[in-house]
This record gives sequence, C-alpha cells and structure tokens, in this order.
Amino acid sequence: MTKCIALHSYKGGTGKSTISSNLSASLAKKGLTAVLLDVDVYAPSLQDYFQWQPKKSINDYLFENANIDEVIHDLSPVLDKFSSNDGEQSESSKGKLLVAFSSTSKDEIYKLDGAVRQEGSKIQLLRKFLMLREEIVSKYNADFVIIDTSPGIRYWSINSLAIADTILLSLKLDGIDLKGTRLLAREIYDSLTKLGTKSYLLLNRAAGYCLPPNLAGEQTSATQEMFNNTVDNQSAVISKLNADIGMDTILSIPCYCDIQFDSNEFLTALRYPNHPFAGKIDELIEKLKTI
Ligand SMILES: Nc1ncnc2c1ncn2[C@@H]1O[C@H](COP(=O)(O)OP(=O)(O)OP(=O)(O)O)[C@@H](O)[C@H]1O
Ligand SMILES: [Mg+2]
Repeated sequence: MTKCIALHSYKGGTGKSTISSNLSASLAKKGLTAVLLDVDVYAPSLQDYFQWQPKKSINDYLFENANIDEVIHDLSPVLDKFSSNDGEQSESSKGKLLVAFSSTSKDEIYKLDGAVRQEGSKIQLLRKFLMLREEIVSKYNADFVIIDTSPGIRYWSINSLAIADTILLSLKLDGIDLKGTRLLAREIYDSLTKLGTKSYLLLNRAAGYCLPPNLAGEQTSATQEMFNNTVDNQSAVISKLNADIGMDTILSIPCYCDIQFDSNEFLTALRYPNHPFAGKIDELIEKLKTI
C-alpha cells in the first residue's frame, strides 16, 4: 500500500526540501518506488536541486495541459551515479525515483495563485490535485509519495497535508517559533488527525554534532561546558515541545555544518553513505515503514 508523507513547517528553511529529496532518493536506492512531489508552488527548489528542467510541471497537470506521464519524471538513472561495488547496484536497479516538479516560471506561479482566488477554478484545481494522488497510486505502484510543501498556512500546503497519511512537521532547533508551530498543530493538524492522519515533529539542525570543536583540537573546559549546557537545554526544549504541542518527535537530526557549507549540495545521503546524515535518513525510513 502506498504511504503518502508530507513535509511541512511553520517557518521556512527548516530542511523540508533537503530531507524530502534525500529521503526519496534513499528509498529508491533501497529498491522501493518513491514519488517525490514538489508542491512548494510559490518557491519551488527541486528543479535546482536535481538540476532538471522538466518540459511539463504539476502546474500543467492542474490546468489540464499535461497528463500524468508527462509530469512524472523518472530520475532513477541519477541513483546509478552513486552506486557502490558492494552489491547495492543490483538493489538500486529495482528501485525507482520519480519526481514531479512545480513550475519555476513567474507567469505560471502568478497564474496558479490567481486561479485559486476564484471559487470556480479553485475547486477544479483541487479536484485535479486529488486526481494527481490517485493517478500516482494507481499507475506507478509507488511505495512512498513524498510531498515537499511551502512553509506556513498556504493553500497548496494545506491541500498537501489533506492528501497525506502522515505529516512531518519539521522544526529548526536553532530558531523555534513555538507560537507559530503551536498554531499549526492546533488549527490545522488537529482536524486532520481526527480524520486519521498521523503527525509527528521532525527536529532538524539539533545541537551535538559540531560541538565541542574537538576535531580542530580546540576543546577547552569552556567549550565542554558550553556543549553540556547546549545539549541539556535542548533536551529540556524538546520535552517541552512534545508536551506543549501534543505531538511526538519521530526523529531529531543534528545540524551538520559540513552539509550546510557544502557548495555542491546534492543528495548528501547517497554521495556520503557513511555520513551520519545518511544514517539519520535510514533511521527515518525505518520509522516510516512501521507507521
Ligand atoms: N541537518 C542539517 N544540517 C545542516 N544544514 C542543513 C540541515 N538540514 C538542512 N540544512 C541546510 O539548511 C538550508 C535550508 O534547507 P532546505 O532548503 O531544505 O529548507 P526548506 O525547509 O526546504 O526551506 P523553504 O521553507 O525555504 O523551502 C539548506 O542550505 C540546507 O543545506
Ligand atoms: Mg524547500
């Protein structure tokens, strides 16, 4: 059965696109069929991430200018770039990475935004969006559909949450907006949860990886003290978060400065399969398989 997972957040820059891309590619690498949807229609980034310029986008599908096969792009060959000699290759050949992109054209973004402001076209677009999910499930035999959304309470993000079985609310631990996150959880997620949707906090950029600066040989009692305080404070913040927001944490991913400063940021989990970030993505996959 297809599992549909939407990544959402209150604030921007919490790692939704990074995690959804790496998650989808890692699922495919493990032999599963993953369909990644870029539903960040206002500021799509996955074309840039995958360095792929699609002829047809989700926008075309919604306006009935393209059929499903034209908007689902098979990026599985990308996985071959990262195949190793330890037998993973044969496994990866079974998996599929399929991606549907949103248009990056300014005119297309305005057109979609304008159309959802008119009742008639808004309903028609919503119907097509529901059909997109149905067609993916029926035609592509997907194990997972992963949806990357826009931050905040926006029309296509809410629709994405509505078609998902599981919502991952990503939070950046270096700048939590508790008020906004609580609002999302209470106003939006609560009503979806009542209908059977599962929702979890996905904590990103947590402390612990870069501190103390042990690799640079700069560890002193002051840096050690700071490390202990930061980690202790963070544990308290996480416990408070879970209680306050009423959602469990599915996973906490540390802030990896080597990822943040990587100028060639692309499918880190596949490029560096032994990096702890790849291990965290694997952990997420194992958890998602069981829920
Ligand atoms: N665990 C991490 N450690 C270090 N850097 C990270 C981590 N996760 C994401 N980043 C970096 O944070 C930045 C923002 O990530 P990303 O674009 O995935 O966020 P987003 O939630 O999709 O943003 P937006 O809301 O604008 O779409 C990127 O530069 C990414 O490399
Ligand atoms: Mg993004």
